[in-house]
Order: sequence, then C-alpha cells, then structure tokens
Amino acid sequence: MNDRKAAAAQAALQEVSSGMVLGLGTGSTVQFFLEALAERIASGDVRDVVGVPTSRATERESRRLGIPLVDLPAEGVDVAVDGMDEVDPSLNAVKGLGGALLREKVVAESAKRFVLIGDDGKPVDRLGAKTPLPIEVLAFGIARTEARIRGLGLEPSLRGGVLEPFLSDNGHPILDAALPEVEDLPGLARSLDAIPGVLGHGLFLGMADVAYLATGDGVKRVERAG
Ligand code: A5P
Repeated sequence: MNDRKAAAAQAALQEVSSGMVLGLGTGSTVQFFLEALAERIASGDVRDVVGVPTSRATERESRRLGIPLVDLPAEGVDVAVDGMDEVDPSLNAVKGLGGALLREKVVAESAKRFVLIGDDGKPVDRLGAKTPLPIEVLAFGIARTEARIRGLGLEPSLRGGVLEPFLSDNGHPILDAALPEVEDLPGLARSLDAIPGVLGHGLFLGMADVAYLATGDGVKRVERAG
C-alpha cells in the first residue's frame, strides 16, 4: 500500500510549478508528497515554492525536509494537495480521520486548485460506506451540540472517549458519526454548518478538482466533471 501512496503522491507533483504557494495536507499519503516535493526543491527542478501546512505534524515534517513555510496568505494558495479517507465518483470526499479537517478545509477552500491523492482503498460508491464522518466541535456545550447532530439522524461518538478525548491541533474534541445513506449530502453539510458548536466537518463536497488514485495498474487521474 505504501508503494501506491508514494505513486499517487509522485503523480501529483505534475500539479506543482515554480513560484507556487502550496497547501500541504496531512496524513501518510501526504508524507510521501512532502518527501517527493522536498527532492524536487533540493534538485532545483522546482524553485521558489512555499507551503502552508494543515497540521503541526505536516509543519514539523516540512521543516525537517527543508520545505519553506508561510502562514496562509489572504489570497489563498495556488494548489492544495491532500489525502482523503473516502472519495466518491464525483470527487466528493470525507476527510478528518487524522484530525486535521478544520485546517485542511480552510486551506482547500482557499486553493485555486484542490488535488486529492490516495490509494485504491479510498474510492467508494457512496460516502460513509467505510468510514465515519469526523466533526470538530467546541468543548463548551458539547452535550447540546451532540443532541443537535443526533437531530440530523447521525450518531456521534467522542473520539478517544470521555476519559481521554482526542484533541485537534486547535484544541477541540472531535465527534465521529457513522454516515447513513443520505439523499441530500449538501443539505446535511449545510445543516451541520448551521450548528453553532460545530466548528467544522469532514464533508468536502464539490471542492476537489482532480484526484490521483493509485491502483495495482498505475495511477488513475480523475478530473471533476463540469
Ligand atoms: C487528516 O485529517 C485526514 O483528512 C487525512 O487527509 C486522511 O486521513 C488521509 O490520510 P492517509 O493518507 O494517512 O490515509
């Protein structure tokens, strides 16, 4: 599987040109992208690129590899490259199993072009088929926020449990909710966005422009239709 992640990451380098501001996602597939990018920078093939990391882990790795970093500029990034937990045939994705969904979405939304990379474990016919939907919430009033989420037909559970709750880089807990078969995913996303205690969720709908999906037969490049 690591070979496939590396292959997808390598293929996504074709999206990168000298002078770009890059969004740097989070996760094991992005780790391969960081390593491949660092090689291109070191060899001089790619010059004057800077990255915006979406997590402390990516920030640490980028520094170690010598990738120059900046804060997210007001005008956003040129290209953001990130992994995903699931992607459907329309390039809608679920993200956030790594806990970085909020910063990832801020960076992805700012990108002129949002690029997904992953292996063949990630494509699904419908989002929620294999993974839960991560939802980052404010600790204050969490019982109320959970009740509001339940009201949407989801069953949230606290990542890490009450004794050792997982906290995001932003210091917030994450709820994971099995995603039932929903007719109107954009409607669900809007309803989640409308809950005051919800800071972000892992539905990345209509955001990705292209996905590089590695299979045993090579890397498939899928452009979003329309
Ligand atoms: C991080 O919060 C996630 O959105 C990751 O992008 C996702 O979990 C993919 O990670 P892997 O590349 O490790 O599968």
